[in-house]
Amino acid sequence: MDASTESLARQWLRAARHTLILTGAGVSAESGVPTFRDALTGLWARFNPEDLATEAAYRDHPGLVWDWYEMRRDMVRAVAPNPAHLAIARWAAAHPGTVTLVTQNVDGLHQQAGSEHVIELHGNLFRNSWLHGCGRCDAHRTDATHPPSCTACGALLRPAVVWFGEDLPRVALYRAQHAAETADVCLVVGTSGLVYPAAGLPGLANAAGAKVIVVNPQPSTLDTTADAVLQAPAGECLPRLLAM
Ligand code: OAD
Repeated sequence: MDASTESLARQWLRAARHTLILTGAGVSAESGVPTFRDALTGLWARFNPEDLATEAAYRDHPGLVWDWYEMRRDMVRAVAPNPAHLAIARWAAAHPGTVTLVTQNVDGLHQQAGSEHVIELHGNLFRNSWLHGCGRCDAHRTDATHPPSCTACGALLRPAVVWFGEDLPRVALYRAQHAAETADVCLVVGTSGLVYPAAGLPGLANAAGAKVIVVNPQPSTLDTTADAVLQAPAGECLPRLLAM
C-alpha cells in the first residue's frame, strides 16, 4: 500500500468535523466471520440467498432457515472483535459527537468492541421479530414449534435481519443518509458495495463534498468513488489509520 495515500487519509480523518464510517462483512473477516461474496469462504458462495434469506424461503422451509440462522448465531458467539472493530471504537470515543458508525453487519461485533449508537442497516442476528404477528405476540410465550410460534395467532418468530426484497429500517436509513450528506470524510471498510441502499452512501457523501476513503484488500466497485483506496485488511490498516 502507498504510505503517502495512507498519510493523506490520516490527515483528512484528523481534520474532519464529522466522519461517517460505513462497514461491511470485511471488517469482521479477521474475527473469523465469513463474508458474503468472497469466492471461497463467502456465505453466498456456499448457499443461494434465495433459498435462505427471503420471506418466501422462510415460509417454504421455516425449520431449515431458522437452523441456518441458529448456526450463524453460534458461529458469531464463538468469535471476538478484531483490531479493526477496536480501532473504530477507540477513535469514536476519542472524538465524541463527530463520528457516525453505520454497519451492514448483523453480528454485533462493533458493539462488543465498545462502539455506541451503531446504526445497523440490516438488523441484528441476535434479535427476533414476528413474521406478520397479530400485535399481541409475546416472545416469552411461544408454542414449542420449530421455529417457535405465537400462542395466540400462530405467527412465526423470525430473525430480525433484513431479507432480500425487504425495506431497510426507515429511521436507521434516514440517519445514515443524513450522516452521508453532512460528513467531511466517509471511511468505507470491508464492503463489496454491491447491495443498495447501503452501497449508495459513499456516493452521497462524495456528492456532498466528503473525502471518501476505502479500506479493502481487494478492488471493489466503490474504488471509483474513492479519493483514497487503501488496499489492505482492515485489522492491519485501521489501527494505523486511526491511531491517536
Ligand atoms: P460482501 O461479502 O459482499 O463483501 C465483503 C468485502 O469485504 C469484499 O469486498 C472483500 O474484499 C472485503 N474483505 C474481505 N476481507 C477483508 C478484510 N480483512 N478487511 C477489509 N475488507 C475485507 O459483504 P458486504 O459488502 O457487507 O445483506 O455485503 C453487503 C450485504 O450483502 C450484507 O449486509 C448482506 C449481504 O447480502 C443482507 O443480508 C441484507
